[in-house]
Amino acid sequence: MFEILNKQILAEDVKRVDIYAPQIARKVRPGQFVSICPEEGDERIPLTVVETDEGRSTIALIFQEKGDTTGKLGSLPIHESVFSILGPLGQPAKIEKCGLVVCIATGVGSAQMLPIARAYRKEGNKIIGIIGAKTKLELMLEAQMRIVSNKIFITTNDGSYERRGVVTDVLKEIIAKEKVGLIYAIGAIDMMQEVVAIAKQKNIPAKVQLNPVMVDCMGMCGACRVKIAGELILACTDGPEFDGHKVDFEDFKVRMNALKESDKCRSHKLQHNKPTEGSTILTKFLSVFRGK
Ligand code: FES
Repeated sequence: MFEILNKQILAEDVKRVDIYAPQIARKVRPGQFVSICPEEGDERIPLTVVETDEGRSTIALIFQEKGDTTGKLGSLPIHESVFSILGPLGQPAKIEKCGLVVCIATGVGSAQMLPIARAYRKEGNKIIGIIGAKTKLELMLEAQMRIVSNKIFITTNDGSYERRGVVTDVLKEIIAKEKVGLIYAIGAIDMMQEVVAIAKQKNIPAKVQLNPVMVDCMGMCGACRVKIAGELILACTDGPEFDGHKVDFEDFKVRMNALKESDKCRSHKLQHNKPTEGSTILTKFLSVFRGK
């Protein structure tokens, strides 16, 4: 069970693995994710199911190797099995007929966007894709997003490919010319916040996917709380899709920064030969927010 049947390098530090997981492949819907543990004793990480192959009973996961667990997953060879996968988790995305949907993604957000864009297209919507990255090397899933989009725009911050600039520059131009039914954004928090602010100026509905730190991914630990319309709710069970106009991005940034501080603290301790368990860091992180 959970055998890796294929593995690909998609961009700098970004890999795709196709894992045999028949029950999940049968049930998962666009927007849902799995919690994966590469080897016994590893931390669990949430990863969006990007696509499924019902014939081979596989799920495709795309991730950036930026920590111990993603590094371990990326280093597992083809035909090796993953220790455990829980899922599908989270709420499926609500796919509606909206006319023109602008799908905006930066970095690995393209992996989360692909199943969403496909689902909106299947529902009969017209798709304009905007994908961005810092450099051409970091751009991912361009070919797949081209296929699903009626029109696509690509930006790189350094101008190494297509248009120099950021995705929101393109969005402003599109909404000035087109009647947009929905804007959907996934990626950096600042980008999503700006997209929602732009959408607000023209009263356009906006959806985002939030990726807070998750521990159990099942609604029990409280790590993934996000503030939506003034209320704290759990991204793992109620999300990851939210109405962008209701998200408190400032609160979300504070929570994410607290995690970064905890990570810094952990690497500092490891460098000084004082091993610290991930759970200790998370307990500290949770204690900051519990009850808030
Ligand atoms: Fe624990 Fe969401 S990850 S409650």
